[in-house]
Amino acid sequence: MSQITAFGTYVPEKVIDNHYFESFMDTNDEWIISRTGIKTRRFSKDGEYTSDLAVKAVENLVEQSGTDISDVDYIIVCTTSPDQPMPNAASRVQYKLGIKNAGCNDVYAACAGFIYGLQIAHGFVNSGVYKKVLVIGAETLSKITDFEDRTSCILFGDAAGAALIEPSEEEHFIAFNSGTNGDLGHDLYLSHKKNSINGVGINPHGKIVQNGRSVFKWAVGNIPIKIRELIAKAGLTLDDIDYIVPHSANLRIIEAIAKDLNYPMDRVPESVTEFGNTSSASIPLAIAKSERNGGIKKGDKLLLIGFGGGLTFAGTIVIW
Ligand code: UT7
Repeated sequence: MSQITAFGTYVPEKVIDNHYFESFMDTNDEWIISRTGIKTRRFSKDGEYTSDLAVKAVENLVEQSGTDISDVDYIIVCTTSPDQPMPNAASRVQYKLGIKNAGCNDVYAACAGFIYGLQIAHGFVNSGVYKKVLVIGAETLSKITDFEDRTSCILFGDAAGAALIEPSEEEHFIAFNSGTNGDLGHDLYLSHKKNSINGVGINPHGKIVQNGRSVFKWAVGNIPIKIRELIAKAGLTLDDIDYIVPHSANLRIIEAIAKDLNYPMDRVPESVTEFGNTSSASIPLAIAKSERNGGIKKGDKLLLIGFGGGLTFAGTIVIW
């Protein structure tokens, strides 16, 4: 059995408001807020990469919990924006934090990454393969954003969140689910090489490209169904869930999910308004923000669900 025993987050210092984009493209603060809810986001500095943010999130985890991470035996970094493809981001974190004996692996599942990471860590700990697993969602999306595409560049931000998974007396992970619509793979991509997905031509320019309307429709149409399925799988009802924390892609998506479920928005923490869409870091940021504001507390039942590029999703119900 396993649980999250420590948790931390980090956002870079540089705050970017919506007016920043008005200086070089045809957009405005009002459009961005009304279509996305985003007011600000953070951008990493030149020379500051995903593994740097990941390390800061782990340092925050250590500061908050006082836990010893020197004997962590596996590090999972969930990211779409690693410093480079090889060595992986987890290996950079291992080196920078001086964790001697950790296995290192990256999970590459875009905005669902952090939850996939938790699922893998749970499997490792519960099977006894590893005892102390760090799961980190970390992104420097500003470094892979197409700043000539006004429909996407206004969305993204940089951040990191980290959780430590360890054995426990009681099981804290109540249920998991996941699934993928690979047939929609071309609707949200980043390609360095190949110029087609599903026979649809794509631009291999190494920047994020999306069909925003298609992703929006898929998320709003599918995620409430997957939330209901997950709750049923756990043998619970919606009333048993203290907070639903969906990936913070767009405030309108989050509101549509809450409305579909008839679930109160004040129990749906988000990080998108302050930090933009930070992909695999967005769920940790939303949890941390809610905790700071007196929302989520230890012992609460949280339903976490990430979704995005793939198009893929992953969810869990966890006792915080
Ligand atoms: O983490 C998962 C990754 N991605 C997502 O979750 C994205 C999901 N999708 C979305 O968040 C939304 O689809 C967007 C925010 C990307 C776009 O919002 P929308 O309400 O779907 O807008 P739209 O694409 O339907 O565009 C509406 C209009 C268009 O003009 P016309 O054709 O109606 O004249 C766009 O050209 O808004 C225009 N537009 C803009 N106007 C001002 C698009 N981007 C901008 C902009 N500023 N930045």
